[in-house]
Amino acid sequence: MNPQGGFISFEGIDGSGKSTQARLLAATLQAQGRDVVLTREPGGSAGAEDIRKLVLEGPPDRWSPETEILLFTAARRDHLERTIRPALAAGHIVICDRFADSTRMYQGLRGPDLRAMVDKLHDLMIGQEPDLTLLIDMDPALGLARALGRQGSEERFEGFGEALQQKMRAGFLDLARAMPARIRVIDGARTPEQVAADVAQIVSVHLEQQALGSAQA
Ligand code: ADP
Ligand code: TYD
Repeated sequence: MNPQGGFISFEGIDGSGKSTQARLLAATLQAQGRDVVLTREPGGSAGAEDIRKLVLEGPPDRWSPETEILLFTAARRDHLERTIRPALAAGHIVICDRFADSTRMYQGLRGPDLRAMVDKLHDLMIGQEPDLTLLIDMDPALGLARALGRQGSEERFEGFGEALQQKMRAGFLDLARAMPARIRVIDGARTPEQVAADVAQIVSVHLEQQALGSAQA
C-alpha cells in the first residue's frame, strides 16, 4: 500500500459505467484541490496504449488466453513503471479504469488453469494492488446494451456476449467477497449521479482513514 492510499481502480463488466464514474470522481477530487491522474487499462502509457490496439482490435481468436495474459501484463507493467508509480510517488491520486482484477476475470475465467497463471505472473511482474477498488455491479444485459450502443473498433471482447459477461459478473462479486477490505460493490443500475454519490462517499471515507493512518504512523 502506498502512504497516501491514493491508488483507486474501477472494475466491472463492459458498459457498467466505469469510465463515466472514473471521470466524475476525478472531477470531484480535482474540485477539492487534489492532484489527480486519471488513467485506464489496457493503456495509460505510450507503450501500453500500443499494446491496447493489439489486444482489443481484430477477430476474437486473434490471441490465445495465455498470450492475452502476457500482453495485458506487459501493458500493466509499462503503465505501472511510467505512469502509476511516478504519480503516486509525487503524492497524486491515481484513478485507474480497470486494473489487475480485469485480467483475473477476463483471462483467468476462460480455462481451468488460467487464473493460477494470471496470479503467478501478477506476483512476478506487478506485485501491486490498488488501495481501493470500486466494483460497479449490474445485470450484464443492461451493461451489454449500453456498451453495444457505443460505436468503435475495440470489439474483440464485446463480441463475447451475455453468457461470458454473466460469468464475469459472478467472478467479480466473488473477488469482492474474498477481498472485502479493498473491493467495494456499488449498484450501477441507477442514474450516473446516484452512482457517483456513492462513489464519492466511499472514496471520501477511504481518503480520510488513510490520512488518519499516516498522521498516526
Ligand atoms: P464502461 O467504461 O464500464 O464500459 P461507460 O462509462 O463507457 O462504461 O458507459 C457505457 C455507456 O453507458 C456510455 O454510453 C455511457 O454514457 C452510458 N452510461 C454510463 N453510466 C450510465 C448510467 N448510470 N445510466 C445510463 N447510462 C450510462
Ligand atoms: P475497456 O476499454 O475498459 O472496455 P469497456 O469500456 O467496454 O469496459 O476495456 C476493454 C476490454 O478489455 C474489456 O472488454 C475488458 C478487456 N480487458 C481484459 O480482457 N483484460 C484486462 O486485463 C483488461 C485491463 C481489460
